[in-house]
Amino acid sequence: MGLPGMFYQGNHVGFQQRCYKRMKRKWFWRNLLHLRVFLDSVIKILDTLYLDRNHARFFILETIARVPYFAFISVLHLYESFGWWRRADYVKVHFAESWNEMHHLLIMEELGGNAWWFDQFLAQHIAVFYYFMTVLMYALSPRMAYHFSECVEHHAYETYDKFIKDQGEELKKLPAPKIAESYYTGGDLYLFDEFQSSREPNTRRPKIDNLYDVFMNIRDDEAEHCKTMKACQTHGSLRSPHGKLCDESEDDPGCPVPQTDCVGIVDCIKKSVADPQVSRR
Ligand SMILES: [Fe+2]
Ligand SMILES: [Fe+2]
Repeated sequence: MGLPGMFYQGNHVGFQQRCYKRMKRKWFWRNLLHLRVFLDSVIKILDTLYLDRNHARFFILETIARVPYFAFISVLHLYESFGWWRRADYVKVHFAESWNEMHHLLIMEELGGNAWWFDQFLAQHIAVFYYFMTVLMYALSPRMAYHFSECVEHHAYETYDKFIKDQGEELKKLPAPKIAESYYTGGDLYLFDEFQSSREPNTRRPKIDNLYDVFMNIRDDEAEHCKTMKACQTHGSLRSPHGKLCDESEDDPGCPVPQTDCVGIVDCIKKSVADPQVSRR
């Protein structure tokens, strides 16, 4: 059966290899490869340390998972302050992604994943380091940062997918956390639709009857993050799912007008030096 999260036409196994192959092509990608090797090492250490404590492992992964979206927004906010950049869709979608990851984190907390002080200490310190690393990477090359995040989200998808396959029957007997019910089935699902940039709004409405449904939906969320991160790698292509509803060609006043942008901090500075009016628009 085609799972809802089958985002690479069933070719999950090849994705990891494609990630590495692509990175070996140029020095630029080789730098990314070093970061990937570092990331994979961290993941392997965490997976080994937390082999028998799944909720604590997921708590740590989710604490780290929302960091890139905050880092993207931080850098874009800085560019906006200097008048170098203004594209509302990116900020909206990244905030919605961060909001989704925050709810994954709240679910893991309700499941007791943060019960140990040491787990919180470890997660928070990795998150701080990861934040500054992502800010630097995103300022130098948004494409590299988005590609890196796509690989991280793919890892998250695989982690949950394996967990569901291993423990699905047990999970079906357990109740869903309250926060999961309210997030996935609550009244206002605007932000839930907003982070899924490859879908039309209102096309995914989860049912949450037990813990199995919760993990299935978290896994599918990770697949949607992957698609959004992939879309972001083509400059200027990201559109808010709600923004797609308006027709720019007809001067719809509800549509955001495409405005100034740049690709990384070097390009931003170059453009502002070449055309000082950019920062006053
Ligand atoms: Fe997540
Ligand atoms: Fe994620």
